[in-house]
Amino acid sequence: MTSNEAVQIPETMRAAVLRDTEKGLQVETIRTPRPKAGEVLIKVAACGLCHSDLHVIGGAIAFPKPAVLGHEVTGTIVELGPGNEHTGLAVGQNVAGGFLMPCGQCDACASGHDELCGPFFDLNRLKGLLYDGTTRLATLEGDPIYMYSMGGLAEYAVVPSAAVAPVDDSIDLVPAAILGCAAMTGYGAVRRGADLRFGETVAVVATGGVGTNIVQIASAFGASQVIAIDVSDEKLAPMFDYGATAVINSVTQNAREEVLKLTKGKGVDVAFEALGIPATWKTALDVLADGGRMVPIGLGAGVQTAEVEINRTVRRSQSILGSYGARTRQDLPAVVDLAARGVINYTDVVSRRFPLEEAGVGYEMLRNRQIQGRAVVDMSL
Ligand SMILES: NC(=O)c1ccc[n+]([C@@H]2O[C@H](COP(=O)([O-])OP(=O)(O)OC[C@H]3O[C@@H](n4cnc5c(N)ncnc54)[C@H](O)[C@@H]3O)[C@@H](O)[C@H]2O)c1
Ligand SMILES: [Zn+2]
Ligand SMILES: [Zn+2]
Repeated sequence: MTSNEAVQIPETMRAAVLRDTEKGLQVETIRTPRPKAGEVLIKVAACGLCHSDLHVIGGAIAFPKPAVLGHEVTGTIVELGPGNEHTGLAVGQNVAGGFLMPCGQCDACASGHDELCGPFFDLNRLKGLLYDGTTRLATLEGDPIYMYSMGGLAEYAVVPSAAVAPVDDSIDLVPAAILGCAAMTGYGAVRRGADLRFGETVAVVATGGVGTNIVQIASAFGASQVIAIDVSDEKLAPMFDYGATAVINSVTQNAREEVLKLTKGKGVDVAFEALGIPATWKTALDVLADGGRMVPIGLGAGVQTAEVEINRTVRRSQSILGSYGARTRQDLPAVVDLAARGVINYTDVVSRRFPLEEAGVGYEMLRNRQIQGRAVVDMSL
């Protein structure tokens, strides 16, 4: 159904609110947000549980509170703000929301570099606001609640139109929530960060929600070898189904030796790092070939540093190419298309579904490494 007829929007909604790191997420009834210019309101179908939220929930990365987290959503548009005339979006349209919401107006956005959007970092990531400098979320009393991306752990969410990509009816909306962060970040790492070429060899260090998507997208882009590395045999076992050609448990095996054996003593052309701790940086750099590209996408818990061997990096012409999200406006539709065509398997990646009330339980399991692939909050539960 696609029409511009008004949909009944309730005045209040349930949302998982983070007030302090001790108490964690608590479901509250708050005001339903409404879209302003260049924004849409979606009725959330599902929201993925990403490790980046964990950094905020645990207090490792500072963020204003109270806040609604959740940045990996799908849903149905229920209201268009003004200024959507040329977006092609309509009420009733199903969409995926990209976590990296480009303002569409800054210099970076103007040059297509959504991943470097200034207002996204300055206003949303640091202050929990949208691009008019205010938040759309408020308590019943009218006090502000801050938004981590669109604040997807709620029944409704306002998203800048530039951050949504239409999905057609062939897409299973609940697991498709992972497209807006895990899959889009994987695509960005492979397509933008690494600029992966057909036939290159790849290692993926840490095969959680994002790492699993890097494995399958690197395989789809024609990597001749995809070597999955993790500390959990359970996480590694399904990697063959996503296109891994070998798996290595870096606790029970020496990752560097195993990768050298698999690559005729060379190491891999591209080593992706998808956790953001010194140990995974070390593993990724250890398995890298001369002239290779190390692509880190894992975020550290606050200000964190990793050691890089100076002379090896210099003499062996190795590059470290940080990669954040992707170019949402160009890449999210591409990711949706890959999912629709079955190139990205987004359904099997989702191993657990929680009701909104149990979002905190889901994050706790994620912290304890008990989630295979991705868990999502399914708003229909
Ligand atoms: N750059 C971006 O745009 C972007 C986007 C999304 C997430 N992230 C970051 O990516 C990271 C991963 O997120 P996720 O949701 O996939 O996390 P996740 O919790 O699903 O996965 C983490 C994985 O790391 C593995 N692991 C733990 N210790 C390890 C070690 N020493 N060596 C190898 N593997 C190890 C775990 O077994 C698990 O499989 C987080 O830091 C998150 O903040 C970055
Ligand atoms: Zn994320
Ligand atoms: Zn911008």
